[in-house]
Amino acid sequence: MKRTKIIKLIKSERPIDEVLIKGWVRTKRDSKDFSFIEVNDGSCLKNMQIIVDNTTDNYQDIIRISTGSAVAIRGKLEASKGPGQKWEVVAERVEILNIAPENYPLQKKRHTDEFLRNIAHLRPRTNKYGAAFRIRSELSYAIHNFFRDKGFRYIHSPIITGSDCEGAGELFRVTTIDPDDPPRKEGKIDYSRDFFGKEANLTVSGQLSAEMFALALGDVYTFGPTFRAENSHTRRHVAEFWMVEPEMAFCDLEGNMDLAEEMIKHLTSFILEECKEDIELFAKFVDKTLIKTLNNVATSDFKRLTYASALDILKKSGKKFKYDIDFGKDLQTEHERYLTEDHFKKPLIVFNYPKEIKPFYMRLNDDNQTVAAMDVLVPGIGEIIGGSQREERLEVLENRMDEMGMPKENYWWYLDSRRFGSVEHSGFGLGFERLIMLMTGIRNIRDVIPFPRTPTAIEF
Ligand code: 4AD
Ligand code: MG
Repeated sequence: MKRTKIIKLIKSERPIDEVLIKGWVRTKRDSKDFSFIEVNDGSCLKNMQIIVDNTTDNYQDIIRISTGSAVAIRGKLEASKGPGQKWEVVAERVEILNIAPENYPLQKKRHTDEFLRNIAHLRPRTNKYGAAFRIRSELSYAIHNFFRDKGFRYIHSPIITGSDCEGAGELFRVTTIDPDDPPRKEGKIDYSRDFFGKEANLTVSGQLSAEMFALALGDVYTFGPTFRAENSHTRRHVAEFWMVEPEMAFCDLEGNMDLAEEMIKHLTSFILEECKEDIELFAKFVDKTLIKTLNNVATSDFKRLTYASALDILKKSGKKFKYDIDFGKDLQTEHERYLTEDHFKKPLIVFNYPKEIKPFYMRLNDDNQTVAAMDVLVPGIGEIIGGSQREERLEVLENRMDEMGMPKENYWWYLDSRRFGSVEHSGFGLGFERLIMLMTGIRNIRDVIPFPRTPTAIEF
């Protein structure tokens, strides 16, 4: 007999004579004549309540079943006599697949996030983390669906690259050179003798590849892991994260902002509609204002304003910030959050940033000072999206690269796209973990990725 998942059984419209469920025991309680076992199989938040009569064959073994044990139960799906659930399973046979001894760490009903982070291999077995990772999965699906419906093609951009897209130098080196005995030339390590014949690293963004494909297929996107060796110990940075990067030919900054807004709203509505049960858990235990925030994101027009006007608002706010606000300085999380949470009380898009604080590929505006950049800021997080219209003019792009001291010869292929049929195009990167933080109210990025990678921490 094949097992049926609990998510299916709880939606059943009638009793079923024989079902087989398999899962892990959340709790067990024994009364005089019966044992009640709560089984969860991960298919949904809800457990299935199992009633075991003390006349069942191996009742002496069943009594020993502990929290965390794995079981297979055959029985009847019947209308529950107790409150709290529509259905329960009256067991005919209980097979013990594996007993979890008393040192199983998840004995209590609630644990702190810090405690669970140290047992990241077990935390998906808790209600909260099970829900978070189901939402993560649903969101991936919704992202692919969103783009497919709009005629975007999915591009698998490489993980190992020879260039630094963001130019921030936060690269993880990929090499097969023996660190104890590297080949040397004129005192320096000779990377021409490394695996790829030159320096290589893990990608910080799939954008440069995506641009090449947008200039061939029109509308494309990438969705994959990206890596940054930034030594930030914040609640919104990890060294390995997933990014969704659409790139559109024949699209300017405004079209780019339109897509970003449409996408975030669409995904928020999707989650409110499709993940109700899991979202309610977060609304109850993690962030009491979650549903209100999500409705606000799904329905309000995102405020759009220039970097210069954002600075004005911050200066006039009368608030004391830890970091200064001056033209040419990047907005810090505290500024971003003030704007979205306190001032506008909704998501916003800041555009036209000073060129000095943005990467080489962003399109230079006519003022020669700012570039056609945009950041989407949302409550509770701050920046969730960073993007821009791209510099499509070869000469302007080359000047910019020279200004920034970039080795143009390494980017000959990128510059080719500006030599042959260059057109207006735009794109952005959505931090997938930050999106999950927004959707769940979870405020630490380490808690929305299965096994977080942060400076000095890679246990799992
Ligand atoms: O603003 P960023 O650096 O933009 C880019 O990488 C562009 N190449 C994207 C593009 O235009 N195709 O990163 C984009 C987003 C940020 O807004 C943030 O949500 C997320 O990626 N992000 C991080 N998320 C977690 N940990 C980190 N260390 C992150 N760095 C960026
Ligand atoms: Mg950014």
